[in-house]
Amino acid sequence: MKPVKVGICGLGTVGGGTFNVLMRNAEEIARRAGRRIVVEQIGARRENPACDTTGIQITNDIFAVATNPEIDIIVELIGGYETARDLVLTAIENGKHVVTANKALIAVHGNEIFAAAQNKNVMVAFEASVAGGIPIVKAIREGLSANRINWLAGIINGTGNYIMSEMREKGRAFDDVLAEAQELGYAEADPTFDVEGIDAAHKLTILASIAYGVPLQFEKAYTEGISKITTEDVQYAEELGYRIKHLGLTRRTPEGIELRVHPTLIPQAALLANVNGVMNAVMVDGDAVGQTLYYGSGAGAEPTASAVVADIIDVVRTLTADRDNRVPHLAFHPGQLSELPMLPMDDVVTGYYLRLQAVERPGVLAHVTRILGDKGINIEAIIQKQTCEAQVPVIMLTQRIAESVMNDAIREIEALPDILGEVIRIRVEHLTGC
Ligand code: HSE
Repeated sequence: MKPVKVGICGLGTVGGGTFNVLMRNAEEIARRAGRRIVVEQIGARRENPACDTTGIQITNDIFAVATNPEIDIIVELIGGYETARDLVLTAIENGKHVVTANKALIAVHGNEIFAAAQNKNVMVAFEASVAGGIPIVKAIREGLSANRINWLAGIINGTGNYIMSEMREKGRAFDDVLAEAQELGYAEADPTFDVEGIDAAHKLTILASIAYGVPLQFEKAYTEGISKITTEDVQYAEELGYRIKHLGLTRRTPEGIELRVHPTLIPQAALLANVNGVMNAVMVDGDAVGQTLYYGSGAGAEPTASAVVADIIDVVRTLTADRDNRVPHLAFHPGQLSELPMLPMDDVVTGYYLRLQAVERPGVLAHVTRILGDKGINIEAIIQKQTCEAQVPVIMLTQRIAESVMNDAIREIEALPDILGEVIRIRVEHLTGC
C-alpha cells in the first residue's frame, strides 16, 4: 500500500520528539498502521539540532505545508491560538487530516475546528493536548464509553505540580522553583499559563467535553493558579493531614457541570496527593467502572510525541472510514451533544481551608466563629499558631458549603477590625464520592 505522507509544522521540543519517534520506530509503526508513514515536509522557522532531517524538505512557510497536495496529515505543533487556528483550518479546507498537541487551540477554537473537519470528512486528533503522554483522551472517549462519567480530577500541569512538590518537600520559594521548571523546558512559553491555571483550564475543558458530551466552553471554567500559595500554607495543610495540589476538577451535578481549576487540599493518603514532580495523573469516576487512575509524563519531547504519533497511527488506520464511522471528536456524535449548563462557581459546594491573621486579643476568634456559625458553616478543625508577635495566624478547616456563602463570610471576617489583611482560602476535596 502507498505510504501515508505527513507534514510536521513546528520542530521545537514536541515537533523534534515526534520526528525522532517516527524515524526511530518506523518499522514497528508501519506494522501497527498497516502502511508506512513518512515525513514528507517540515515547516519550521529553525532546525532542531536533536533531529537529523537530511533528505527532508524544510520550509519556513507552515502554510505551504498545509496546502501541499502531496500531504495527507498535518501535524500542528506550533502552539498558540490564532496562527494555529488559521493553519489547521487551512489544512482542513485542503482536505487534510490534522493531529495537534495544542490544548489552547482545541479548548478555545475546537468547536469551530471540529465542525469544519466534519464538513470536510477529515479527522482532527488531539490526544497530546491533555496530559502529554498519558492516553487519557482515548481512555475516556473509547475505553470508558460504556460509562456515565460522574467526575474527574487531575493534576494536569506538570510545572505547577513540580512547584508545589518542591515547596512541600524542600521548603523552596515559589519563584526559585518556577525558574528551574523553565530551565527544564516544562513551562509554557508564557509561564503565567502554568502558574495561573490557564494551561490546566484548557486541558480540563477538553476532558469535560469528552466526559459528558458537551461543547467546549473554556470561557466558563473557573481558573485560579498557585501563585498565592505560601510555604506556610503548605506546612499547615500537612499538619492537618492534607496536601495542596493544583487540581482540575469537573463533576456532573443535577444543577449543571462543575468546571474548575484551583489549588486544593486533598487528604495525604489520596492517590493524587502522591503524584509528585512534573508527573501528571487523572482520576476518572464512571458509574460502571468506579474510580480509575491514569498516571505518567505530562510534558517533554518524547512522552508528548508518544501521544502525537499514536494519533497519527489512529488516523492512518481509519483513513478509509467516513465521518459517521469514526470515533467522534468529542466522544459523542456531533448531533448528540448535550446542553447541560456549566455551574457558576458561586453554586459550587466544597470544604474550605481558611488562614487569617488575627490581633492577639480575647474575643477575636469568637467574632470569626460567630460569622461562620450564623451562615451555617461548620468548623471541622482550628489551629491558632502562638507567636511572640501581637498578631497570630489562625487556620481553620470548614465543612462543605456553597462558594457564595463562603464569599459572604470572608467579606464579613475581613471587615472585622482585628483581622489583618486578606483571608486566604483554599478549597478542600476528599475525592471519594466527590
Ligand atoms: N506547560 C505544560 C505543563 C506542558 O507544565 O504541564 C504540557 O502541556
